[in-house]
Amino acid sequence: MRTLLVILSLIIGLPAGTHAQPTKELVVYCSVLNEWCTLMVQEYERATGVKVTMTQKGSGETVAQLRAEAANPRADIFYGGVGDQHMEAGEAGVTVEYKSPMLAELHPWAQRQAEQTGFKSVGIYAGALGFVWNTELLAKKNLPEPKCWADVVKPAYKDEVQISNPASSGTAYVALATLIQVMGEEPAFDYLKKLHANVNQYTRSGPAPVRNAARGETTIGINFLHDGVAEAAAGFPLKVQAPCEGTGYEIGSMSIVKGGKNLENAKKWYDWALTADAQNLAKKAKSFQVPSNRKASAPEQMPKMESMKLIDYDFQKYGSGVERKRIIARWEKEVGSLPK
Ligand code: F6P
Repeated sequence: MRTLLVILSLIIGLPAGTHAQPTKELVVYCSVLNEWCTLMVQEYERATGVKVTMTQKGSGETVAQLRAEAANPRADIFYGGVGDQHMEAGEAGVTVEYKSPMLAELHPWAQRQAEQTGFKSVGIYAGALGFVWNTELLAKKNLPEPKCWADVVKPAYKDEVQISNPASSGTAYVALATLIQVMGEEPAFDYLKKLHANVNQYTRSGPAPVRNAARGETTIGINFLHDGVAEAAAGFPLKVQAPCEGTGYEIGSMSIVKGGKNLENAKKWYDWALTADAQNLAKKAKSFQVPSNRKASAPEQMPKMESMKLIDYDFQKYGSGVERKRIIARWEKEVGSLPK
């Protein structure tokens, strides 16, 4: 077989052996905000001359797509989105191990994401979960500011809250896993049923409730706080709050797709995306997560995680595909399918 390949490669001019010819292309599945994805693509293309094809989707949807395409992968890089979903992708065998020479420049939490996934992913940013509300709508409806998980299930907030759907969105999955870790599983599901009465819509994408709150289409969103801060910085009347009982957070991550056609370019993207310069592009694109490179400059708008009560999030457990499947199936059966 190998002899045949060598002969064929001599005839048609392809290199023999396992190394693919360097390409001028890269396919990125991107799960941060579109403005950030686009800026990353522009800068990478400018620096390398490589043509990037980018698709933006939520982290849950991206993992589903990577799984569906496993036999014939289209993507090379899965960039951004919650770390739990990158762990699941690694476990499902759709991403590959890569030890970037940039690892030493990263905060310990970002390196931990790499170690915990057998180097199949790495942390690129962090951000905490909480409430985002439209201050004008809240005042108009005479509602108090939500400060605790216990507040947003009160009858006064009926139909005022929006959260994404955990099947498609990493944000909502982190919210489910957080509530289970804060309260215990049974009380968390009782809580989610009560919350259902106050939810006006489960959105497909995680950041959507923030955008809808900014535009007055919902009063409150359950979101990553940096997404709320981004819309507030754009001039919308929004305030953010981390829940008083404690909250979870994400280690936004990056992985290389198994069987992608442009492996060398994927590694180049990976190393570059971990540099301080590349990470500084986030705030230029108005995304305010905590960057993972220790030398990247943290945006001053960034919600201060040290001032919040953060839980000791169990990434190993909640990043497991089996656990995620079980929790989401239970949510769909017991909560998502309830009448409104
Ligand atoms: O800023 C965008 C963001 O909130 C990221 O921090 C996060 O990783 C991603 O969106 C989650 O998106 P989704 O909930 O749609 O998977």
